[in-house]
Amino acid sequence: MEMRTAEGLRVLDAERAPGQQPMGAAPKLQVKGVSLSFPQAGGGRVEVLQGVDLSLGEGEFCSIVGPSGCGKSTLLSVISGLIPPDAGSCELDGKPITLGNPAVGYMFQSDTLLPWATALENVRFPLDAVGRKDDGLCLSLLKKVGVGAFAQAYPWQLSGGMRKRVQLARLLAQQPKVLLMDEPFGALDAQTRLLMQEELLRLWDSTGLTVLFVTHDLSEAIALSDRVMLFTNRPGSIKEEYPVPIERPRAIETIVQHPAYNSLFVQVWQSLRKEITLE
Ligand SMILES: Nc1ncnc2c1ncn2[C@@H]1O[C@H](COP(=O)(O)OP(=O)(O)O)[C@@H](O)[C@H]1O
Ligand SMILES: [Mg+2]
Repeated sequence: MEMRTAEGLRVLDAERAPGQQPMGAAPKLQVKGVSLSFPQAGGGRVEVLQGVDLSLGEGEFCSIVGPSGCGKSTLLSVISGLIPPDAGSCELDGKPITLGNPAVGYMFQSDTLLPWATALENVRFPLDAVGRKDDGLCLSLLKKVGVGAFAQAYPWQLSGGMRKRVQLARLLAQQPKVLLMDEPFGALDAQTRLLMQEELLRLWDSTGLTVLFVTHDLSEAIALSDRVMLFTNRPGSIKEEYPVPIERPRAIETIVQHPAYNSLFVQVWQSLRKEITLE
């Protein structure tokens, strides 16, 4: 999937189409030629995705950035099986993904905790759904994400960051192999967001999960990812891809001082701004 230099840099081979994983191992997650249009209120259809191809190797962390409305959330819904595409397919380990596959964890931007259930009951929810009872696992997951002491608290008793931690624990309870994350930290204040980025990297490092992360925040995409994929304006497709030449493990608070960070930020932003139209 990748090679590392002595300095821990991930080395990606240059001879790839944008969106494609480095040569070598079989892809973990693959999106092949996905196109989708939605019916419009006044008749006709609006093209949202056009021929999206991407491939993630096992354990890769990739981000998608793109202008608002370019189809990022729609793509994650297609990958999860929630929305069938007009054309193309999405595969996990070479097999089509069907809705409800627990190996694919989907974290929405909005707060999706059940308000009437405690943190523990929320985390237990995916296990209850398959008739499994494992409070030990759920408690250990709450501890793992730093909210073990709040197992009996209700969502309204928790801060925004704590609620995100509970959502992460709930996602992990379904024991996914791939995480689809749609602007998961978008609604958090700046400091909490940095803490959650740190938490996510720590979890990713210790679990070997494959992550596809959607964000409109370039600094977040660069700080977290092995590769940043830039989407075109609607209909969305991959315009360019940027490997992130920053060694791991990364410290979120010092990443802006890394010499590669600023030049990459400017490069991606200059390309992204050409895709933004003011409507
Ligand atoms: N269910 C739907 N029916 C009709 N249009 C939709 C639907 N979902 C999304 N759209 C439209 O598809 C486009 C892409 O939306 P979305 O994927 O949410 O964009 P992004 O996440 O990149 O901001 C937008 O123009 C949006 O209005
Ligand atoms: Mg969106």
